Amino acid sequence: MSVVTASPPESSAVNKAGSRYAVLPRHVAIIMDGNGRWAAARGLPRIAGHRAGAEAVRRTIEAALQAGVPWLTLFAFSSENWRRPEEEVSNLTGLLRQYLKNEMAQLREAGVCLRIIGDRSRFAPDICAALAEAEHSTARNSRLRLTVALSYGGRDEIVAAARAAAEAVCRGEFKPEALDEERFARLLFTAEMPDPDLILRTSGERRLSNFLLWQAAYAELVFFDVLWPDFDAQHFAEALAEYARRERRFGARPL
Ligand code: IPE
Ligand code: IPE
Ligand code: MG
Repeated sequence: MSVVTASPPESSAVNKAGSRYAVLPRHVAIIMDGNGRWAAARGLPRIAGHRAGAEAVRRTIEAALQAGVPWLTLFAFSSENWRRPEEEVSNLTGLLRQYLKNEMAQLREAGVCLRIIGDRSRFAPDICAALAEAEHSTARNSRLRLTVALSYGGRDEIVAAARAAAEAVCRGEFKPEALDEERFARLLFTAEMPDPDLILRTSGERRLSNFLLWQAAYAELVFFDVLWPDFDAQHFAEALAEYARRERRFGARPL
């Protein structure tokens, strides 16, 4: 059962973009959690949960395309996930390799533009090459901007941006006082991306686990008890319906 008490959206409500939702988030970001527990509940190895999770990724991309959500970001592997046992890490990188090989043509044809955020240098050279090729071959697409966070950590990203800003100041490119939020945001992996409006997390955990720390400043958070491999289009629709009911204030006076 989902944590949110969302009911299915009313199909009659059609907004300007032709969507079923009164207000559609521009950017949905998802912490895809619970693969291991899904496998354990079935007496299966963790990799079986990750494989089933890849199916949920497919369904979710399809649901985002159907709903007309323009930006989707998926947290697939954190900078901390390298601490997992070597066997699991190698199974996960194997799955990534397979996913890129099997799915890219379909994503490209569906109009998906893929980009990766995170420290990709930690992956094997063949995976780095496949990631670069996947980005290159979909760069002209614009129907859905799909970002996959791989070896990604929010603190890592902020420290790297702070270092880049310090170096630019040392080179005399700008004065410290000229560093504002906008300039800083341009130094993050997510430069040119809108901040997430809605962040979902599955598996019942209610934390960000180092995901998009800067960008999440005013995101609406929706948590599901469902484990990631069980996540489907109906859950995605529930999250969009829940989002449409939220009142976003950004610190201003309530309406
Ligand atoms: C999410 O599922 C996938 C990754 C973090 C790579 P988990 O592997 O974290 O599954 P649980 O949380 O142990 O159930
Ligand atoms: C967060 O899940 C990372 C991803 C979903 C890729 P984790 O399972 O790694 O997070 P914690 O350890 O429960 O916080
Ligand atoms: Mg987990």
